[in-house]
Amino acid sequence: MDPNFSGLTQRLAKANQSHLLQFWNELSPTERADLALDLQGMDFQEINGFFKNAMEMSNNKQEKMDTRMEPVPMEVLGSVTRNRSSLKAWELTGLQCISQNKVAVLLLAGGQGTRLGVSYPKGMYDVGLPSHKTLFQIQAERILKLQQLTEQRHNIKCCIPWYIMTSGRTMEATEKFFARHNFFGLDKNNIVFFQQGMLPAMDYDGKIIMESKGKLSMAPDGNGGLYRALGNQGILEDMERRGIEFIHVYCVDNILVKVADPAFIGFCVQNEADCGAKVVEKTNPTEAVGVVCKVDGHYQVVEYSEITLETAQKRSPDGRLMFNAGNVANHFFSFSFLKDIVQTYEPKLQHHVAQKKIPHVDAKGQLIQPDKPNGIKMEKFVFDIFQFAKTFVVYEVLREDEFSPLKNADSQEGKDTPTTARHALMSLHHLWVLNAGGHFIDENGRRIPAIPRDGAAGSVTDDGNRNLKDGTDMPIQCEISPLVSYGGEGLEELVKDREFHPTLMIDENGVHQLVKNGI
Ligand code: UTP
Repeated sequence: MDPNFSGLTQRLAKANQSHLLQFWNELSPTERADLALDLQGMDFQEINGFFKNAMEMSNNKQEKMDTRMEPVPMEVLGSVTRNRSSLKAWELTGLQCISQNKVAVLLLAGGQGTRLGVSYPKGMYDVGLPSHKTLFQIQAERILKLQQLTEQRHNIKCCIPWYIMTSGRTMEATEKFFARHNFFGLDKNNIVFFQQGMLPAMDYDGKIIMESKGKLSMAPDGNGGLYRALGNQGILEDMERRGIEFIHVYCVDNILVKVADPAFIGFCVQNEADCGAKVVEKTNPTEAVGVVCKVDGHYQVVEYSEITLETAQKRSPDGRLMFNAGNVANHFFSFSFLKDIVQTYEPKLQHHVAQKKIPHVDAKGQLIQPDKPNGIKMEKFVFDIFQFAKTFVVYEVLREDEFSPLKNADSQEGKDTPTTARHALMSLHHLWVLNAGGHFIDENGRRIPAIPRDGAAGSVTDDGNRNLKDGTDMPIQCEISPLVSYGGEGLEELVKDREFHPTLMIDENGVHQLVKNGI
């Protein structure tokens, strides 16, 4: 094959990317065809423009944000603890919207999961729960249960469409996994897979990096690649056709995620918000979590690295951190806002720069595994669009009820691992059983106290407050299927005044106490 096919050589030369063909003569016919196909689909002028803008933005960002920031004003803030009396009303509003088929959920599942280090999509991961359910299955069953709860309340059939964003790296495996598991009982017509874009990794001079002699190093364009994909994959049209008005966007790796959380949706709808962010309280000034705040009057997520320690440590008169709205990548959008973003604002967003160690071939064709960053990946973030919201609201929830992300493998540092995710879920379910009047007993038949000395994470104290644990102790082994309870409801008839030996499993077939050698 001639590399000059359809003017490719000239296009590459014009874009200063001719090195991409440097090994052409060494490639097999199939490798040549694949490379030519990849290159023909790329807009090099656009990519070079992304690189230039991203590097400029990154260089300008050196200056800290401190003087431009202000915390989220109280009037846009809803809290599950401080506004307890409003919770029921928010939830009813949310359920009503669901019953009218106005609510969809959108899953961000296009990431590479490099820190977790598995070769398959993160949603297929089994964190080792007694049921061995994967993250995808847990989320699917929460959707099913919520549809059911809504149908019972409103006596009408409804559905919550599930849009699943994948990438070139995760699409095929994800679709196959869902098909193999019969879409976990959901109607497959209400699950819509789509693919975000990919961008090449670049070296610091703006040259595209090659991962082998015939292949470019490509990565998904960040979870903010969502907006471009919504436009070019026909997803907005699909939403419009279905009459979707409100969308809950969330990440695949949070094992506690309340998919289509009716209270969150109801809170946003009642406040006529076009955009909402769920947050958890940041309590440790040095925790590396982004905070939702205002910068120059516009809402934004500011990363820990963008502020000084002094600002991170600032406290309000109530003793809480001043910038404490920890972003958990869990958002509400009105359909009309999403449409404006896709059609008007998305092209104005610049990519962020992530410096990475990118394996590549050198000029001699040798594969190099760098030990320090040698180039960048360009990514947009899902929260980059907060600044365009006309009515932005923030909804604060309890971390131990709703947020435990899976980022790292167990062999690495102890934060956000399969173990912490598994423990967080079991601790929450333990609490649900206690709240519904059930008890746990140890191997000697003694009740395990609700305030544990060691172990049993996440129990309640006498005054109903959570006894916080970091999820690393051994919790009571307890798992409740989402098909039985979405958020702790409906358990009294199963557990009230009963005593259980861990491991306790409650699923659609009943209550099971698993002993070491079987059920
Ligand atoms: P992370 O930024 O934690 O990335 O994604 P990741 O891919 O899960 O893990 P690492 O950083 O490679 O270890 C947060 C969420 O955003 C999604 C992920 O799938 C996850 O749900 N995401 C990330 C995308 O959908 N697309 C992307 O390009 C990047």
